[in-house]
Amino acid sequence: MYLTREEEQVLKGEFGEGTQKALELLVAIGDAYDAEKMIPISRAHAASSGQEGDLYFVELLANGGTSCRVPTSTNPVYDLAYFDNLFDVPKDEGEVARRVMEAYKRVGAILSWSCVPYLAENIPLYGETVSFSESSATPYINSVIGATTNREAAQSALAAGVIGKTPKYGLHIKENRKGTVLVKVKAALNDEFDYSMLGYYVGKRVGYGIPVLTSIARQPSTEELINFCAMANVSGAISMFYVPGFTVEAATVGEAFQGDMPKDRVTVTDDELKRAYDELQTTSGRVDFVMLGCPHYTLRQVEEVARLLNGKKISKGVGFWVCTSATTKMLAERGGYVDTIKKAGGHVVVDTCIDEPCWIAYKGKVGMTDSPKCAYYRRFKEARVARLRDCVEAAVGRK
Ligand code: F3S
Repeated sequence: MYLTREEEQVLKGEFGEGTQKALELLVAIGDAYDAEKMIPISRAHAASSGQEGDLYFVELLANGGTSCRVPTSTNPVYDLAYFDNLFDVPKDEGEVARRVMEAYKRVGAILSWSCVPYLAENIPLYGETVSFSESSATPYINSVIGATTNREAAQSALAAGVIGKTPKYGLHIKENRKGTVLVKVKAALNDEFDYSMLGYYVGKRVGYGIPVLTSIARQPSTEELINFCAMANVSGAISMFYVPGFTVEAATVGEAFQGDMPKDRVTVTDDELKRAYDELQTTSGRVDFVMLGCPHYTLRQVEEVARLLNGKKISKGVGFWVCTSATTKMLAERGGYVDTIKKAGGHVVVDTCIDEPCWIAYKGKVGMTDSPKCAYYRRFKEARVARLRDCVEAAVGRK
C-alpha cells in the first residue's frame, strides 16, 4: 500500500507508540485487502464493550499517549455502579468495564456509550467517508445516510479515529457498492417488529452481500430501518442495502445494481417471516424478565413503553429493562416517560448493552425481548421474542 512520508514516520514511531500501533493495524488491514492507499475520514464510531479484547487495544493506544484526531463515539458498556448495587457483578468483570471506559476517556473519544450514535451524538452527512463499527451503524450509515464505511471492528474504527484515516477498499469504492441480490418483499410490513423479522431473514438468506429490496410500499420509519440494519448484520454480514426510492443512493433498481444483473433472487412472503419468528422462540415458559432497547431505544420507543405501562404494575419478581442512550434518557425524563416506567416497576438504563456481564443475575432465566439480536446474544437461558406490546403484557400479567 502506498504510504505518505508522514505515514512512514508514524510507522517508525516518530509520533509516539499509540499512534504507531493504530497505524500498524490499519496498514495490516489495508495490505490484506489490497488497498491502494489511506484516505481521510471525518468521524468514527468504536463498538467498545466491557470485554478483554477491547481493553487490550484501547489501553495500548491510551498508554501510548495518543488521542482521537476526528470525533470518535463509543458503544455501550454498562453503568457499573447501577448494576453492582442490584446484581453483585463479579469484581474482575467490573474492573474490565471500568478500565475500558476510563481508557476511551483518555484517548479523547466522545463518551456516548450508545449503539445508535448516528441519531444524536455523531451524525455523518451524505457523502462523508467515515469508519463506523456496530451492527446497525454500518448498514445505516451506508444505506440510509449515504456516507461510506466498511464493516469495522471496535479496534479498526478506533485506530481510524486516532489516525484520521482508513485504508481505501471495500465500500469506500463505488463499484463495490453495487447491489448483489434482488429481494422481492411480498410480506406485509406493518411495524418495526416486522422489519426486525425481515432483517433477520434477509441476513440469513443473503449472508454476505448487498440486498436490493423491492415492492416496499411506504417509506420505512427510522426505527424500522434501525431494526432491519441491526438484524440483517447479525444473522448475516450485511454492510449495505438498497430500497430504491427510499434509501438515498439509488433511485431505481437498475441504478442499485449499477447496470449489472443480480447474482441471486429471493422472495420474502409472510410464511418466511413466520418461520423466522418461530425459529427465534426457544421456550414458551413463564417470563422472568423483559429486555428492550437492543439497539438502544429511540425517544419514540421509550414513550411507547411509558404509554403501554401507564397506570399498570409489572408483576412481582419480573425484571423490566429499557436500554437507551444518555441523550434519549434526558429527553425521556423531561417528557415524564422515565417516571411512568419507574412507577410501574421498570428500569431505564443508559450506557448499557444487553451483551455484557452485568446481567449475571439472569443467567439461568427466561427472557422476553422484541429484538432478535438480543435473543441471539442472550446472556440468559431461554428466549421469547415478540412485539413490544406483548412483552409489556407478559411482564404485567407474568405470562
Ligand atoms: Fe446495542 Fe448491545 Fe444490542 S450494542 S444493539 S444493545 S447487543
